[in-house]
Amino acid sequence: MEILQRRSTTAQVWGAAEEFIRLFHRETPGAGDPRTRLAAVRAELAESGTYRHTPQELVHGARVAWRNSNRCIGRLYWNSLRVRDRRGLTDSDAIAAECFEHLREATNGGRVRPTITVFAPDTPQSPGPLIWSEQLVRYAGYGDHHSVTVGDARNAPLTEALLRLGWPGGAGTPFDLLPLVVQGVDDKPRWFDTPADAVLEVPIRHPDGDDGDGDGWADWGLRWHAVPAISNMCLEIGGVHYPAAPFNGWYMGTEIGARNLADADRYNLLPAVGRRLGLDTSSDRSLWKDRALVELNRAVLHSFDRAEVTIADHHTESRRFLTHLEREERRGRDVGADWSWIVPPISGSATPVFHRTYEDRQVSPAYVHHPGAQDRAQGRDLV
Ligand code: ARG
Repeated sequence: MEILQRRSTTAQVWGAAEEFIRLFHRETPGAGDPRTRLAAVRAELAESGTYRHTPQELVHGARVAWRNSNRCIGRLYWNSLRVRDRRGLTDSDAIAAECFEHLREATNGGRVRPTITVFAPDTPQSPGPLIWSEQLVRYAGYGDHHSVTVGDARNAPLTEALLRLGWPGGAGTPFDLLPLVVQGVDDKPRWFDTPADAVLEVPIRHPDGDDGDGDGWADWGLRWHAVPAISNMCLEIGGVHYPAAPFNGWYMGTEIGARNLADADRYNLLPAVGRRLGLDTSSDRSLWKDRALVELNRAVLHSFDRAEVTIADHHTESRRFLTHLEREERRGRDVGADWSWIVPPISGSATPVFHRTYEDRQVSPAYVHHPGAQDRAQGRDLV
């Protein structure tokens, strides 16, 4: 099934709707023959130019969209996604409040639960609401390329736009929570302070120095948030677009240890880790970066474990992904995947997902990036 663009004709929406309704009935035990439902959808479409998913269709659609996410290694548990149906909400303040409640429920005291909250869809009358922030939890980045950035350099443009808009700024630490930026229907984007009680964070320590903290990792003050919740992708199900539908899984350690904290255009911590470990950072051939990466990743996994917060390691998650492939094959379904995203950013060849190829076909239901999502995430034209 092809992914349908926003602003499609009724005929295109009908084509996508028909395929989805058939898929839903095929995959849902007891759903029976799709003919009655198809006739109802067809009539609703002719009348209003759109149609409403039943709660069961919404749940299955959101789960299958996860199943179809070719960049995600964590899809084994696609069928257990928790779906919070908030389709009645169109205003930014109500949406922000539900996003924060999403975080609390998904965090679940550390036993992270994959969760999605679905807000109002696009309709022929009006586009749906939008969340500009790329994730529900983001750390501020102060400064730009002319000066040293404090915090997450990725979020420096959004931080600057928010400051111009009147956000007073945080304490100036490397891990200040940014407000959430939400644009309600028929409204301009607004920012909402992230309540501290909605965000669980994990202090990062290294296992070798943890008792008594001989090596000073605790004083270093590194931390990361427990729940990755993508908030600027559009959920497309059967020709209906839900532009505000934040969703989360749990972290795989390498996302934090080999990317967020390590990338040169993020926290760029490898030189500091290397020095802390007493490595020879004067030559690439000492492999100090590689060694620093491994130790930083050990620290991330150790710290989440110590805090009893769910996190996967890349070896386990790779094996689970192969289990997922087998399971889906047994059910007669093809699994699309994007090798360059599935293979972990460290030790790729030590995981089984490296040693094979995948087809990267995009099918619907799906989570898609709409044009402009990147610009909005950077706060472009926010003021
Ligand atoms: N890589 C992103 C981050 O580090 C999160 C992407 C989604 N990850 C996930 N485990 N569901 O914040």
